[in-house]
Amino acid sequence: MPPSRWTVSTRLDVRYDIRETPGLLDPANPTLADILTSDARGGLRLVLVDHAVARLYGARIEQYLKEYNISHRLLELSGDENRKTMGQVLGIISALNDVGTLRVSDAPVAIGGGVVLDVVGLAASLYRRGIPHTRIPTTLLAQVDVSVAAKTGVNYQGYRNRIGSYNPPPLTLIDPTFLRTVSARHISNGAGEIFKMGLIKDAALFELLERCGPALVAGKFQSTTAAEAIGRAIAGMIDELENNLWEKELRRAVDHGHSFSPLVEMRHVHELLHGEAVALDCLLSAVIAHGRGYLGHHTIDRIAATAAGLGLRTWHPAFGDTALLMQALTDTMRHRNGNQNLPVVREIGRATFLNDVSTEEISDAAQHMRRLGERQEPKLAHHGTNR
Ligand SMILES: NC(=O)c1ccc[n+]([C@@H]2O[C@H](COP(=O)([O-])OP(=O)(O)OC[C@H]3O[C@@H](n4cnc5c(N)ncnc54)[C@H](O)[C@@H]3O)[C@@H](O)[C@H]2O)c1
Repeated sequence: MPPSRWTVSTRLDVRYDIRETPGLLDPANPTLADILTSDARGGLRLVLVDHAVARLYGARIEQYLKEYNISHRLLELSGDENRKTMGQVLGIISALNDVGTLRVSDAPVAIGGGVVLDVVGLAASLYRRGIPHTRIPTTLLAQVDVSVAAKTGVNYQGYRNRIGSYNPPPLTLIDPTFLRTVSARHISNGAGEIFKMGLIKDAALFELLERCGPALVAGKFQSTTAAEAIGRAIAGMIDELENNLWEKELRRAVDHGHSFSPLVEMRHVHELLHGEAVALDCLLSAVIAHGRGYLGHHTIDRIAATAAGLGLRTWHPAFGDTALLMQALTDTMRHRNGNQNLPVVREIGRATFLNDVSTEEISDAAQHMRRLGERQEPKLAHHGTNR
């Protein structure tokens, strides 16, 4: 009898680099040119740039590429969360087809915040079933979080990142000087993910934010202390992701702040940015941890004060809507295969997971969070503005 059952078993060796390279667009700095020349085969390279970045840096990007004779076509993309759609993905795929992008060489370059990087990442994973690209994150959130991640995605039917893939690009280049032009609100937004990392992984990072948060935000994360905060956040993220890149393990400490926030963020997309919603979710989870006896009064006060010091909101009325929070948790549980797996802070710098959080517990915690948050709100200088 011929065999009637077969098994295919293989291994995928994954390795990608994240490199800090200040002054990336300085014509005297050949780093980017060297990288682009190393995979060139004479075709047109698509350079996909966030529209705000194109406005601020477009001329410098063009000048740099011209200086090094890199044939390219620059395409501007919207960095608006509302445009994180399959429509944008298909537009990029059409552009890749149009310039005749090869399977491996003349790989496209994505320059922008998390929205552009997620959309280009998804297009690159679909075009010819997957091509490489180079990622250049230009916001704080994209530098500390998206730059490490393997994930791509677009929003669909009112849900965040409902369609996506795992497609880490071989190289990500981080130039902190891009942050000089990022609005204060978007700097705080990125600080929300660093705040999360301090809470679940790195007590020294949390203490650094607690001590220096307002100065870091005011200085747009350009100082040596800022470099330490960014470096610690990236290292913590790599440590958490490296052995679980495809998320086979669904108990993930890095999901702290991402249990209630995805739906809240989508429902209030005009009011809340990703990192702001994450920080609010961290505060709710901290109060839940307080209710369980893990964190004392003083600790949750410190957590709320640190968020406020980073210019992050500490209360939003959406967190007073228990039905919305429960709907969000139910959807998140589907993502966690039916389990809550709610990461909460056991002590600053260490997470634990809860699987038995009740509606009443969430509602009580939200009330406590409102009182805690409202005490901090007057300290916030710029939330709700795009300065
Ligand atoms: N793939 C992942 O693992 C992952 C992780 C975290 C977040 N994300 C996604 O990232 C997105 C949020 O990213 P974001 O916060 O970077 O938002 P964003 O991409 O919307 O950028 C924020 C704003 O800043 C502008 N901008 C970008 N760079 C600039 C610069 N240097 N100077 C001035 N303006 C600039 C953009 O045009 C935009 O208006 C969300 O869609 C989220 O889902 C993905």
